[in-house]
Amino acid sequence: MPILASEGSGIFLLKSVGWPYYRHRFSRRPWAGDSCGVIMAEIAETHPLRTSVADFVEGLRTLESDVITQAKVLEYLSQVQLAYDALASYVFWSDSYYTRNLIYRDELFEVMTLCWRAEQKTPVHTHNGQLGWMSVVQGEVLTHQYRYVRCSNPENQNVIGLDCLGGSHHVDLERLNTVACADDGKVVTVDKLQTIHQIENADKARAGCVSLHIYSKPIDSCVAFDLRSQRCGRRELRYHSKMGVLAS
Ligand SMILES: [Fe+2]
Repeated sequence: MPILASEGSGIFLLKSVGWPYYRHRFSRRPWAGDSCGVIMAEIAETHPLRTSVADFVEGLRTLESDVITQAKVLEYLSQVQLAYDALASYVFWSDSYYTRNLIYRDELFEVMTLCWRAEQKTPVHTHNGQLGWMSVVQGEVLTHQYRYVRCSNPENQNVIGLDCLGGSHHVDLERLNTVACADDGKVVTVDKLQTIHQIENADKARAGCVSLHIYSKPIDSCVAFDLRSQRCGRRELRYHSKMGVLAS
């Protein structure tokens, strides 16, 4: 079962995978049952490093037949993980910024790799009230977690379909902790309780890191914070590549 860890006033989930030997036997039909127990019962043994992207996505889609929870996806990821080799077609680099590379998307799930050159990082940002799961297949990234304290325009949170309109000219955030995530099977999450963070590849020596991200639902924009000016604003999110092809 996932290991629930609480640190500071934020909550995050870390999943240590013992690398059991599993293999997909996903059928194309919806799962007869609605629990992860059923899903796991349909997984037989071989090495997870052989999991293909197609099998990974197909297994993820089976979770769509019921309410998607953080715990269900965590349990799925504890049994079925993708290795760097399987994701090689979705690895693109830029010297200017970290890249977002779409692997799969439907109404409920968005799957992508993020590729980080040394010292590249996101701004501090929100996740639009959605759930997210991140693992690393090469290198190590740091996740700095924050908590919203107050802002000058809290009424901007009263909006449908978005976490906040943004646009505050005075935001106070409290930095809670930093979580390291390396290519050891650990999964770091974002959720409705812990929704503000910054991710960075802080290792100057490493050529690059590759992380795998799953969101439910997909996230097309977020609120980004400038901690120096204490301002925030909504930011559109773009893909560097889609399905293995550079985006125009
Ligand atoms: Fe994020």
